[in-house]
Amino acid sequence: METTGTIRLGNENFEFPIIEGSEGEKALDTRTLRGKSGCITFDEGYGNTGSCLSDITFIDGEKGILRHRGYPIEQLAERSLFLETAYLIIYGELPTEEQLAKLRKNVTDSASIHTGMHHHFDGFPTNAHPMAILSSMLNSLGAYYPEMSTNDREQDLAHFDETAALLISKVRTIAAMTYRMKQGLPFVFPDHSRRYAENFLHMMFSEPYNSYQSDHGAADALDLFLLLHADHEQNCSTSTVRMVASGGANLFASVSAGVCALWGPSHGGANMAVIKMLEEIHQAGDDGSGFIKAAKEGKAKLMGFGHRVYKNYDPRAKILGKSAEHVLSGIGIDDPLLDIAKHLEKAALEDEYFIKRKLYPNVDFYSGILLKAIGIPVEMFTVMFAIGRMPGWIANWKEIAENPHSRIHRPRQIYTGPTIRDFVKMGDR
Ligand code: CMC
Repeated sequence: METTGTIRLGNENFEFPIIEGSEGEKALDTRTLRGKSGCITFDEGYGNTGSCLSDITFIDGEKGILRHRGYPIEQLAERSLFLETAYLIIYGELPTEEQLAKLRKNVTDSASIHTGMHHHFDGFPTNAHPMAILSSMLNSLGAYYPEMSTNDREQDLAHFDETAALLISKVRTIAAMTYRMKQGLPFVFPDHSRRYAENFLHMMFSEPYNSYQSDHGAADALDLFLLLHADHEQNCSTSTVRMVASGGANLFASVSAGVCALWGPSHGGANMAVIKMLEEIHQAGDDGSGFIKAAKEGKAKLMGFGHRVYKNYDPRAKILGKSAEHVLSGIGIDDPLLDIAKHLEKAALEDEYFIKRKLYPNVDFYSGILLKAIGIPVEMFTVMFAIGRMPGWIANWKEIAENPHSRIHRPRQIYTGPTIRDFVKMGDR
């Protein structure tokens, strides 16, 4: 295999090393390009740009492959649980019984929120978006743990295990408290006897007079949802976390920025948008055909379809689609939105427009239907994605923080504004 590649600019050749990843992915290492030639690469949207070397997650979008630390997502979905997969993603190996027990204990022990933080919720209007609340609260959380959020890498890394468990735990508590606050309901304290997903549902739905019981596999389905969202390589929010971390910011600040990046409808906000789209289709009495036509004419976007990396079926969507059906039939719900989703999927997969552009269902296509069946309100969907993605953000922060050679992320640009001109007095403008 070639070990170098050449870029020819005018009459000059510039040679660069080719880097090869463990799965055979190749990259031309152009780090010295500007210094040698004065030229930079332009790649808006970064579709051709590798921003880092990473050991965490491998995706082959053409083949529909997703692996964490080498383990296929299908095996993890079938044989692992969210916390175990979180450990794998963060630390690189499947945990021993003892290591997993320790993580579980740390997560369980740090589920409560400092009562000082309860008052922060009073400051938000009840119509505030849960993602705005979540991002603010995660950043505020760091203020309660100054020894873990020093922005001194050595010091922050010395507390890493504690901080990681705390964030995995408290993101769930804050999410449930956000929901309760918005509903005008009293906060429910975590129950240490319950497992991760079930404890979340308890903090969401238990009442002093009625303790939530996870029937029909709701907690298991939620655990699977979280596991399937645990990491996904250099997506928009994870890249944001790495960007913030690259400047030396602590883990609380970095994941709080990740939540903001996740919020948008092209990223994590798509799971809300899918349900809204399915509801609109249902209310209009359409079976999906009208919507497909509008999407092909560029008048609408089929939410939950398409992906920057997958040019094949997103393997997570396959697993979630099956799980959504299973949960719905277990609960005995006949949700017309599932039928519309299935019809849309079939129609899109057979349509020339979608085939040509290699547009397939992504993880968000069925996740909303699953969350709705569990009883999670639509407004909370992207928050659920954030709870799931926390291990991935943490692992990527760790990778940056532990790398003694990591540099601040600072892309270049091509300036296209006005060239130099003289300041004009107010009266002459
Ligand atoms: N519906 C209809 N047409 C689409 C869609 C869609 N969902 N997605 C892409 N296209 C078309 C797009 O208009 C373009 O057509 P043309 O070549 O004629 O201009 C072509 O397909 C290529 O699209 P693109 O905009 O270059 O794709 P991208 O890689 O920039 O964007 C995406 C990827 C996920 C933002 C986009 O597919 C999209 O907006 N999908 C809907 C939102 C969504 O489901 N997002 C969740 C992503 S998965 C979860 C996550 O990681 O956050």
